[in-house]
Amino acid sequence: MNRLKSDAMTSLKQIPGPSGLPILGVMPEMVSDMLGLFTKTAREHGGIAQFKLLNKSYFLVTDPDYVKYILQDNYKNYIRGRSVETGRVLLGNGLPLIDGDFWLRERRLLQPAFHRERLGKLASTATDVIGSTLDSWSQRIQTQPTLDMDEEMMHLTLTIIIKTMFSADIDDKILALGHAFNVSSKFMLWRSQQMWAPPLWFPVPRNVEYNRAFKTLNDTIYPLIASGRKEPKDDLLGMLLEMRDAETGEGMTDQQARDEVVTIFFAGHETTAATMTWAFYLLSQHPEIEEKMRDEVKSILGDRTPTFADLPKLTYMTKVIQEVLRLYPAAYLFAREAVQDDVLDGYPIPANTLIFITPYITHRDPTLWPDPEKFDPERFTPEQIANRPKQIYYPFGEGPHVCIGNNFALMEMQFILAMTLQRFRIKLVPNHPIAFKPEATLRAKYGMKMTVEKI
Ligand code: HEM
Repeated sequence: MNRLKSDAMTSLKQIPGPSGLPILGVMPEMVSDMLGLFTKTAREHGGIAQFKLLNKSYFLVTDPDYVKYILQDNYKNYIRGRSVETGRVLLGNGLPLIDGDFWLRERRLLQPAFHRERLGKLASTATDVIGSTLDSWSQRIQTQPTLDMDEEMMHLTLTIIIKTMFSADIDDKILALGHAFNVSSKFMLWRSQQMWAPPLWFPVPRNVEYNRAFKTLNDTIYPLIASGRKEPKDDLLGMLLEMRDAETGEGMTDQQARDEVVTIFFAGHETTAATMTWAFYLLSQHPEIEEKMRDEVKSILGDRTPTFADLPKLTYMTKVIQEVLRLYPAAYLFAREAVQDDVLDGYPIPANTLIFITPYITHRDPTLWPDPEKFDPERFTPEQIANRPKQIYYPFGEGPHVCIGNNFALMEMQFILAMTLQRFRIKLVPNHPIAFKPEATLRAKYGMKMTVEKI
């Protein structure tokens, strides 16, 4: 019998977990240090644990075999369900918020737009945006040599995703679009943390600000979709609109296209920005790794702007990025809801249970990774990868819902690192405090103040 899926006759095991306070459960620790709570729970109670919040039970699953079972082997029984409900006000029926046949149809429609060879067409847009950002750094550091890399990366990746989505001349709209997007994603995060929030039509200031931002997004995006249909372009939107369902021949409606555009802005920018911020932090702590990477960049590119064809040659840089994503997986937490009762390796999983999955904990598990806190890109040589179970590393998730934008993200991150290392040396400002701000993604709590020096 499969170790993971035992039948109902097996005597079921009790799922361990912290006892917590009466009624509140682990609420105080959850609010003060969620990652600390999850790490302690997993280390003390194992790869499947349960905890209570306001008398409701939640599961934390970090054993890589169990994660694989939920995300891949029996994924149909583990849906996004209510874990993504608050996102719906902004993202509608975007890909990460839907399940079942609807999701499958949409995923098949979107997938070809993210194939590597199609991404190549977006490469020069990305390098143009990065080039202009680096030019602006050159100017700014003449008077102010420190930059907050967290802010810089958020702005840069949002601009890259907007400009690769819409090649139309929208420079005059980027500021308003970026602002509207930031207001609405902050609002969505805030709502997801509330026990109760006033309905959207109720005119409290927060709702008024959100509704205005929501309108700006729609007023900008719908006309761009209309003109993208009239005059198809070689941008990400053009690729989305061109896609046709293999069975019905149908493409996306305007509403679906809008939902996917906003979803891609949301899923694709903060994750990449957070990863880059942590990469700059880690490199500043490991100058020998930074120099090795710079040598690779110099020998392959010299001073010229990288192209899509150069990227596979940056093999050391790829290892560095993989290791950054091991220690700081930007999508550090996602969730599933069980549809029907299930049994996982003898543990009962009742229907409707909400299950938290966190690569952050699996990636730092000392029983899976030797010296797990050490930043060591050599873990990602082909030999090392081949010698360990694949499922112990899942920064992009796994199974059918695996990140659709992983190649896009990798392309973007390689361009950002290569072009930055060609021009600048970046150091953490002495005594800058480092702590986590685990929100929608794994951000740096105090930003990342760094000194930027021309080479
Ligand atoms: C370093 C950057 C990124 C990380 C760490 C990341 C991580 C993830 C993870 C873990 C998932 C799976 C979530 C789950 O199973 O519930 C996911 C899904 C997704 N990601 Fe990413 N992502 C990144 C960049 C991007 C980019 C650049 C895009 C788009 C351009 C994107 C679009 C999506 C979408 C649409 C989904 C939903 C896929 C589906 O449900 O079928 N992501 N991402």
